[in-house]
Amino acid sequence: MKNRLSKLILAAVILIGMQTFAQEAQHIPEVEALLKKMTLEEKIGQLNLLTPGGGVATGSVVSKNVEEKIKAGNVGGLFGVTGPDKIRQAQEIAVKNTRLGIPLLIGSDIIHGYKTTFPIPLGLSSSWDMELIEKTAQIAAKEATADGINWNFSPMVDIARDPRWGRISEGAGEDPYLGSAIAKAMVTGYQQQDLTEENTMISTVKHFALYGASEGGRDYNTTDMSRVKMFNEYLPPYKAAIDAGAESVMSSFNDVDGVPASGNKWLLTDLLREQWGFEGFVVSDYTSVNEMIAHGLGDLQAVSALSINAGLDMDMVGEGFLTTLKKSVDEGKVSEATITNACRRILEAKYKLGLFEDPYKYSDSKRPERDILTAANKEVAREAARKSFVLLKNENKTLPLAKTAKIALVGPLANNKNNMLGTWAPTGDPQLSTPILEGLKNVAPNAEISYAKGANISNDSAFAKKINVFGPRIEISEATPEALLAEALANAKTADVVVAVVGEASEMSGESSSRTDITIPESQKTLIQELVKTGKPVVLVLMSGRPLDITEELALPVSILQVWHPGIEAGNAVADVLFGDHNPSGKLTASWPQNVGQIPVYHSMKTTGRPAPSTEFQKFKSQYLDAVNAPALAFGYGLSYTTFEYSNLKLSSKSIGQNEDVTVMVDVTNTGAYDGEEVVQLYLHDVVRSITPPMRTLKGFHKVFIKKGETKTVTLTLKAEDLKFYNGSLEFISEPGEFEVFVGGDSNAALKETFTLN
Ligand code: NOJ
Repeated sequence: MKNRLSKLILAAVILIGMQTFAQEAQHIPEVEALLKKMTLEEKIGQLNLLTPGGGVATGSVVSKNVEEKIKAGNVGGLFGVTGPDKIRQAQEIAVKNTRLGIPLLIGSDIIHGYKTTFPIPLGLSSSWDMELIEKTAQIAAKEATADGINWNFSPMVDIARDPRWGRISEGAGEDPYLGSAIAKAMVTGYQQQDLTEENTMISTVKHFALYGASEGGRDYNTTDMSRVKMFNEYLPPYKAAIDAGAESVMSSFNDVDGVPASGNKWLLTDLLREQWGFEGFVVSDYTSVNEMIAHGLGDLQAVSALSINAGLDMDMVGEGFLTTLKKSVDEGKVSEATITNACRRILEAKYKLGLFEDPYKYSDSKRPERDILTAANKEVAREAARKSFVLLKNENKTLPLAKTAKIALVGPLANNKNNMLGTWAPTGDPQLSTPILEGLKNVAPNAEISYAKGANISNDSAFAKKINVFGPRIEISEATPEALLAEALANAKTADVVVAVVGEASEMSGESSSRTDITIPESQKTLIQELVKTGKPVVLVLMSGRPLDITEELALPVSILQVWHPGIEAGNAVADVLFGDHNPSGKLTASWPQNVGQIPVYHSMKTTGRPAPSTEFQKFKSQYLDAVNAPALAFGYGLSYTTFEYSNLKLSSKSIGQNEDVTVMVDVTNTGAYDGEEVVQLYLHDVVRSITPPMRTLKGFHKVFIKKGETKTVTLTLKAEDLKFYNGSLEFISEPGEFEVFVGGDSNAALKETFTLN
């Protein structure tokens, strides 16, 4: 017996030894050799990320004495520095003036394009075009690396179902299936297959995790949700980005289960590394380690130790790691092995980029001119913008406009460069963007166009001051609101059609830009109402960084083209669509509520035990006294200049076994007068399961071009995995029973088939 036991112990020891060996074998020998030479202080120095300022900072703290700190070996990376020459200088300081000459990571926020600014991410997601999205990320990487940057703080993949939250603009909307596809496309775009290439960079998936679920839509606020909701609805896009190879993860500001993400061991170690197998490094968000003091988790000494022990590797700006970790090691509160592990991950990232081989590989001063703002890049920006637009309403088929029309172009965003790029485009130059007026003239030189501002974005100067932190986004004219309006109305009266470019200034969404009232500002509402009274056809070109409450405008006899903040090619792209050179095909990726009181409203809601009747109010059912449950505009919704009809929905099988796929076929006919693209969408309803199912949820889509009069058969595959969900024990399973499949052009798709999973 004793003999058997010792044999077993021996086998276990050998096995553990082999595993350790296997784990170590994955380490990079050059990095291991370097680690052996490093002192504890040098290792801690690598965990420190600074920003020298000068750019756009997103917190009140900016790093000081950066050069001295680099020389002292106290810096692992910088962000907010651009240009190959400046970055070469920074690398030279690190390489030539420190004992071990370790190069720096150079980070940046390149959220929707570097200098060639693409539409805001919520807009880009509305294209439902993964190839295009990947291409925009690839171009962003090419431009940014030409300017010295090797590490991008993108994509943001936070699921957001609350349009009050300003950062809904930076993500892909409400749905985890679409969000996962977009996360993958973006990571692939930035990193491609090879990080050692000069035009690829490290991608950071953020903000891990659940940042988009902040209570009340207020930025940086608490989040709280059940594990099943997390796993089924909020975590998939982060996981998809990691599966696509994202080399870094940014922890979020919020708490998860009561522990701020940057110090949350369950999140950063148990889930991220142990369950998901993530091998890259985790960086905190801006001073989020220090912010744990305000969260109520202790002093800087305590929260820094908590964070490194939780699995955070790099501390952004706050310098908590730099100033406290040595003491924590001396006191035995943090082990040196923990510091070594964090340092290893950062060094490995530098190694993968090829920085040890050539620290100056992103400092080729010839590249910016060759690679940045090229005609080809701008053409993609124009295409991306056109494809991001969503036609919400086309009253009396006012659109497209004739290229010879007499147009009264009005509105505070009609001849405005400052708001075209949208939020969080700190590397772009708004002055390089094409305003709408110029775009209309470029595309339709024979149109007769008059221009009048008509209204201020807002008349409230105190509000304008909050919005104008990065430049003049809301400019209140010296002329009175009445005079502005009178000029616009005079133009409108003599025109064939009025095009009013209205909506939000770019900084009315984005970080720290939450709103409790998400209607079009009052000054512009008045303009719209008065324009309608002229009796002329009115087209609203609507800009915003979030779904808006436009219930009032939807009730007016106006056409509405939602263009988000379209980026550098704004004017040209808007003109392409208004004049019909491009047929709009964008579809909403987040539901637009009837009013703020309805929030959250999203397509994958649950029936509840007391489902609301579809029309009439009924006492004791789950509904409101003063509004219906459905949003004003559903997820997946968007019109075209043509029309599409769906028929012949067929499934490859009405009865399948576990691990079998179902092929879904549908005929889509272009029944209108224009060629066009349609986003064919597939929704699934798991009729009975062990945890309450959503009424329906997106499980497939395909964007298809169909000529007028033609029919195409579109085939989608429901994979066995698409039937699975996380059950109450967090097992990813499918359960036998009936499934309903809906296919159509939005989340209200009516065409239905059923099958059974045995
Ligand atoms: C704070 C933001 O939350 C994050 O998205 C960004 O990457 C950092 N600031 C750095 O600018």
